[in-house]
Amino acid sequence: MAKTLITGGAGFIGSHLIHLLVNKYPGEQFVNLDALTYAGNPENLKAIEDAPNYRFVKGDITDFAFLEQLFAEHQFTGVIHLAAESHVDRSIANPMAFIMTNVVGTVNLLNAAKNSWQSDYSGKRFYHVSTDEVYGSLGAEGLFTEETAYDPRSPYSASKASSDHFVRAWQHTYGLPVVISNCSNNYGPYQFPEKLLPLMINNIRHEKPLPVYGDGSNVRDWLWVEDHAAAIDLIFREGREGETYNIGGNNECSNLGLVHQLCDVVDDLLGRAPGSSRKLITFVKDRPGHDQRYAIDASKIKAELGWEPTIGVEEGLQRTAKWYLNNTEWLERVTSGAYREYYAQQYQ
Ligand code: NAD
Ligand code: TYD
Repeated sequence: MAKTLITGGAGFIGSHLIHLLVNKYPGEQFVNLDALTYAGNPENLKAIEDAPNYRFVKGDITDFAFLEQLFAEHQFTGVIHLAAESHVDRSIANPMAFIMTNVVGTVNLLNAAKNSWQSDYSGKRFYHVSTDEVYGSLGAEGLFTEETAYDPRSPYSASKASSDHFVRAWQHTYGLPVVISNCSNNYGPYQFPEKLLPLMINNIRHEKPLPVYGDGSNVRDWLWVEDHAAAIDLIFREGREGETYNIGGNNECSNLGLVHQLCDVVDDLLGRAPGSSRKLITFVKDRPGHDQRYAIDASKIKAELGWEPTIGVEEGLQRTAKWYLNNTEWLERVTSGAYREYYAQQYQ
């Protein structure tokens, strides 16, 4: 029977992916390995935590002995690796945590999978979930393709680029059956409120200043998180071995433009006067080394696997703002740190 290890499943993207997989494939087993750092929140998985095909394991991918034991116990047929330190600003303040989890942790997982599978790689797959930030920063023109040379410029993107190289090295050197995807900025429910959109929604609620870095002209390509989860499912099952797939939302927006749109959506939902939240926008000191523009050419995944984003940014912002405003308790528990008590109660 198929048994897939998902790392980082208590985080933002991982929790959406686990909801999708556990419900869609009742005949398969899914094990979620997560260290529950500040970004991991098992409350995100409440709806499926008792499903017979799901199991949560608390553990750290930097602990190789633990990983070897886990692989020996479960005999996984596949790995979908999402566990990472994921926030650029934190990587600037504390790069070593990123090197440990994103680089050392990924190499540990590669080794654990290789050791467990090397007698028979057939039917096995190691899927590494990565970011478009490995490609560096674009000017006004152009898109990242799968052939774009790597040019990471933040500690976060350098750690993800490094992990991508190790994944490819394990394929070329040891024959490990791997696949990689590089995705643009995700947004949607359950995103930790240090990232742009949930941070802004929370501040709008409390009528606090909305901190836009620099002049707000930096551009990102925004992807609805459930579209990303659907792409991961497809690539895991149907992507060609050894290939890389870029995943994007076809939704390029400047930060300032996006925050303007968000203010208007939230004002409308809260019944505030049009334009009132835009007044909260405050331009703050820029992020050091702030990448100017990311934009994805997602034509390969469309041509090969038929995947396309289904939710545009207008609809996605509506859904996202509604979710956070309807789940203020989740937001309060995450921002106060109270969500950590849930784990203690639930799992001892
Ligand atoms: P997240 O920060 O919300 O979640 C990361 C999860 O990994 C958390 O549950 C955390 O507890 C867990 N984790 C961290 N260190 C660990 C360790 N040492 N051992 C085990 N678990 C650990 O991140 P996310 O936004 O859901 O991103 C998931 C993956 O997707 C990451 O690899 C990220 O680089 C990639 N990605 C994210 C985006 C985005 O916009 N969020 C875009 C492209 C790619
Ligand atoms: P973020 O959500 O941190 O994602 P990433 O840096 O990985 O793209 O930030 C998205 C964009 O928003 C990025 O250009 C930085 C900017 N930003 C702000 O202007 N203010 C903020 O408070 C945050 C968190 C981000």
